Amino acid sequence: MRCQAVGRYTGRDANGGDKLSKADMRVTLAGVELRSPVIAASGTFGYGLEFEEIVSLERIGAFVTKGLSREPMAGNASPRIIESPAGMMNAVGLQNIGVHAFVEEKMPRLRGIPGVVVIANVFGYTIEDCVEVIHVLNDAPGIAIYELNASCPNTSHGGMVFGTDPDSLYQLATRCRHAAERPLMVKLSPNVTSIGQMARVCEDAGAQAISLVNTFLALAIDVETRRPRIANVTGGLSGPAIRPIAVRMVHEASQAVKIPVAGMGGITRAEDAVEFMLAGATAVEVGTASFADPRAVENIANGLRRWCASHGVARVSDLTGAMER
Ligand SMILES: Cc1cc2nc3c(=O)[nH]c(=O)nc-3n(C[C@H](O)[C@H](O)[C@H](O)COP(=O)(O)O)c2cc1C
Repeated sequence: MRCQAVGRYTGRDANGGDKLSKADMRVTLAGVELRSPVIAASGTFGYGLEFEEIVSLERIGAFVTKGLSREPMAGNASPRIIESPAGMMNAVGLQNIGVHAFVEEKMPRLRGIPGVVVIANVFGYTIEDCVEVIHVLNDAPGIAIYELNASCPNTSHGGMVFGTDPDSLYQLATRCRHAAERPLMVKLSPNVTSIGQMARVCEDAGAQAISLVNTFLALAIDVETRRPRIANVTGGLSGPAIRPIAVRMVHEASQAVKIPVAGMGGITRAEDAVEFMLAGATAVEVGTASFADPRAVENIANGLRRWCASHGVARVSDLTGAMER
């Protein structure tokens, strides 16, 4: 679909109103209407409450919780986050309070924030773990979508990452789809040969959306000590360093499926969000940028609205897949 030009931007409409308020920023992701396509990414926005005083949660599209597991997890040893050129590496190890504490302690407070849209990120080391997390979340009112992190090792199958093996991914997504009483979005690992194939597997399993990319597997070594700079040895690379690869993968995935795609990887400005949407994303997620500027998600959401107005884009959804060749 092409974006519709509506003439040169003047800042004012014929009645003297502000055109910024005229751009329609609504998108539909996994059957859920969001007021903006800009979403805070998992693991970089806590449980949302940490950002309540900094970001107007009701002005961004949604936020994704930290990954939630069946039991609380302490995460990996330090150092577990380092800076790298144009990005960062992390091996936080999916530290979280566990799904029960999330439902009992965080959800009641989140439900009290008008307009906030909560996407719960789910993970586990077996399919049963993931299904159990979803069952617990099903009983908690106020969650819009589940985002299933497929970048975890499947301990029942020799530790191979779910999202890198089509059969494991299909089984995981199918079982979680059946368990979920809310729309399921599967978050893909980029550490694969064919992202299009993995996207199709999720669609075939009944997922209502996919999101990508998670972090790229990486290694950094301190040449003086000759030791890995992260205690876990390897970590996940994120931030602007990965953006062009992520944009390519979002394009390939969106070409392979009909379900909506949430794109992410190194978005720091409104123009980056536009790039992902032109590549085929319906929505975008912002992760690492929140470490440098905690207000990044809201700033990008506002910037995207301004960008649409100044470029005569009446509906932000018209940008999706509008790359021209
Ligand atoms: C410190 C950190 C923790 C993360 N934790 C999670 C997580 O718990 N679950 C998940 O699906 N993705 C997690 N991610 C991946 C991000 O959500 C995102 O997919 C990735 O960082 C790429 O986007 P970015 O370049 O905008 O950060 C984490 C990323 C970072 C940097």
